[in-house]
Amino acid sequence: MKTSVLEVEDLYVHYFTDTGVVRAVDGASLEVDRGELVALVGESGSGKTTLAYAIMRLVPPPGRIVKGRIILGGIEVLELPEEDIRKLRWKKVSMIFQGAMNSLNPVMRVGDQIVEVLLYHEAIDDIEEGRKRARELFRLVGLDPERIDSYPHELSGGQKQRVVIAMALALNPDLVIADEPTTGLDVTTQAKIMDTIREIQREIGISVLLITHDLPLVAEVADRVYVMYAGKIVETSDVEKIFYKPRHPYTRGLIGAVPSHIGPKKKLVALPGEPPDLRYPPPGCRFHPRCSLAMPICREKEPPLSSRDPRDYVSCWLYRPREAGEND
Ligand SMILES: Nc1ncnc2c1ncn2[C@@H]1O[C@H](COP(=O)(O)OP(=O)(O)OP(=O)(O)O)[C@@H](O)[C@H]1O
Ligand code: SF4
Ligand SMILES: [Mg+2]
Repeated sequence: MKTSVLEVEDLYVHYFTDTGVVRAVDGASLEVDRGELVALVGESGSGKTTLAYAIMRLVPPPGRIVKGRIILGGIEVLELPEEDIRKLRWKKVSMIFQGAMNSLNPVMRVGDQIVEVLLYHEAIDDIEEGRKRARELFRLVGLDPERIDSYPHELSGGQKQRVVIAMALALNPDLVIADEPTTGLDVTTQAKIMDTIREIQREIGISVLLITHDLPLVAEVADRVYVMYAGKIVETSDVEKIFYKPRHPYTRGLIGAVPSHIGPKKKLVALPGEPPDLRYPPPGCRFHPRCSLAMPICREKEPPLSSRDPRDYVSCWLYRPREAGEND
């Protein structure tokens, strides 16, 4: 029996700007199972946040979901009227937005901001019940429950981020999308926040789609990994394989070298060159201008997926799928 909480199939999300069409997500597919922590990694501008916005049906103009399918707990998200989508948000899927801790309402007590979400979704009968739930959520994310009466400026960055996580959990969603949830925090706080997310994820069995640049973090916490480059998923597999046996030259570049053990504490090795302008993506393999292994075909034809397994493939001409009857 399939246990996916999220399936994204061949999704295209473009920004129709005055200077051209930005192909931010250009044929991306991914799946998240119940109770899994799946990481989506890739350099800045590869389309990660745009993909997350599409799952929430929150792509800002001039962006538009051009085609594809998004299935959330069996529901076809792209076919729902806006009103029904609003009901799904927070309840089925919630998102910890990139930089969210800086967008808490500065003139509202943090607990009241959670009560507001609960009231909007008619999840509570009165304010007192909401405050009780907010205290429970604060305990869950490692905050002193009395902190519900604090204003954002009275909290540290790490505490504010915990408030944002509490808010994302308020309506017991099946899936939480966490977009760079620890960026901007000091290293120790980052580790503590991530431990909290992992603990909660195991304790209450939710699924998490973690978007991050932080590969050592991914090695520590993720079950599976999708590597995104210039709007496309170029490689996916379980976390061990990504770190022990990275196949795509981009993945190899991202993790620097094959580490001798899982959980490398090494710094990200900078890849040569820049990601392409997604208004004019290069033909063939989008990575070819930066790839030291590029062959003539790479400049002309888009590489096929190496396998039909949606959870274990690479898209690179070095790993072309085996033809019928072909031997090693
Ligand atoms: N509102 C917008 N209008 C036009 N282009 C946009 C808009 N938002 C994002 N883009 C473009 O879409 C592409 C993907 O951006 P996106 O923010 O999804 O990347 P990302 O992988 O989340 O990057 P980062 O790691 O920096 O957060 C980029 O080329 C970006 O410039
Ligand atoms: S398809 Fe070619 S250019 Fe692209 S990553 Fe593979 S070898 Fe490099
Ligand atoms: Mg982003």
